[in-house]
Amino acid sequence: MKFLLIGGGAREHAMALALKKNTDVELYSVMGNKNPGILRLSEKVLQVKETELERIREFAVSNKIEIAVVGPEASLGAGISNLLGEVGIPTVGPKKELALIETDKEFCRNVMAEYSIPANLTYACFNDFEEACAYVDSYNGELVVKPVGLTGGKGVKVQGEHLKNKEDVKVYIREVLERGIGGGRVVLEEKALGEEFTVQAFVDGSNVIPMPAVQDHKRAYEGDTGHNTGGMGSYSMVDGLLPFLTTEDYNFAVDVIKKTVMALKNKTGESYRGILYGQFMKGSEIKLIEFNCRFGDPEIMNVLTILKSDFSELCRHIVEGGLKGAVFSELATVCKYVVPEGYGFNPPPPCEIEVNEGAIADEGANLYYAVVNEKNGKLFTTTSRAVAIVGVADSFEEAEKIAEKAISHIRGEHIYHRRDIGTRELIERKLRNMEKFIG
Ligand code: GLY
Repeated sequence: MKFLLIGGGAREHAMALALKKNTDVELYSVMGNKNPGILRLSEKVLQVKETELERIREFAVSNKIEIAVVGPEASLGAGISNLLGEVGIPTVGPKKELALIETDKEFCRNVMAEYSIPANLTYACFNDFEEACAYVDSYNGELVVKPVGLTGGKGVKVQGEHLKNKEDVKVYIREVLERGIGGGRVVLEEKALGEEFTVQAFVDGSNVIPMPAVQDHKRAYEGDTGHNTGGMGSYSMVDGLLPFLTTEDYNFAVDVIKKTVMALKNKTGESYRGILYGQFMKGSEIKLIEFNCRFGDPEIMNVLTILKSDFSELCRHIVEGGLKGAVFSELATVCKYVVPEGYGFNPPPPCEIEVNEGAIADEGANLYYAVVNEKNGKLFTTTSRAVAIVGVADSFEEAEKIAEKAISHIRGEHIYHRRDIGTRELIERKLRNMEKFIG
């Protein structure tokens, strides 16, 4: 079966490896960079930006693609599923009317409010600066400022963290509105406190099959300090829960996802086919921080690495219907990203890195190439994340050790990773943090 894969990061390398476990899969790929992991798994590669929809459609048609699988939200938001649908190619990834659940934060909050979906936050949306300031002045508590549209993960600012006080909140609102960041409209949300967790689900229009819960670490430096990034690493536990997450909490999150799939169908008349990602905050209650219309990165690597079911078959069921379930190994995973120094802030020009694939495999770890470029047999960093390593074992401590040993086989100047992700020390700190909220 011929699959088209869109995207050139570690998320897409993980999808490529999972698809190619089925030896009947022929892979055709589209990416803006030259990811060596995806390159070697693909029959053919179209090297264009993931939003060049017409070029992607031509490539898909001329190669007689049967199913397309989309990694990045930008392609979905631009309407790749609509366009491929017009030429009879079904897509794992929703149409743009449904991708609004990620690409338009006002739409997301409005759908949750209109359909009384639990876990919504108090919110208000503005494009008038004075009206927004009046809301800030009258609001009793701290706020989160989010541009309504996509900003590549750089738009969200939190009072008490990035913004010191109400004056800073107003300054940032003005910047979003005047500079047209994320469409120049702003959502002001109640600040949710607690520990974040991710639940992702396969969705075939009506059936929702959840995956194990994962915790991502967005802060750039150890001890969860520094600026926010796309994610420096993540872990999952043997039981599919997290140290601070009960079965009841997990089921609640899955229910929020199920209700949202139904609400989207009622609101748009379209069926959601793809991955729905919920990022939640558990504090005294569980709140929905955001939905994504695709796999999370790094969270995909925690779940696909332990997926026992045939991913290509799951993709077929997502587009045709009849999804029944997915089986995951009962193992813990720890994912750590190697990134350029200054990633998410002020990264250096491309620098060469050496990845000893054989030694990493000998450590029993899984390797996923992210946004790197291969040139004349050498590997170079970009401004984004470079390489992800995933350790898998019977315990998170063992998985963390495997990941850490494997990372010692990645060499280069101006790169770093967070050693603390997946360690008992960090996880116990998170449990202590949770005690503040649930006593
Ligand atoms: N891990 C967060 C994201 O994929 O957006």
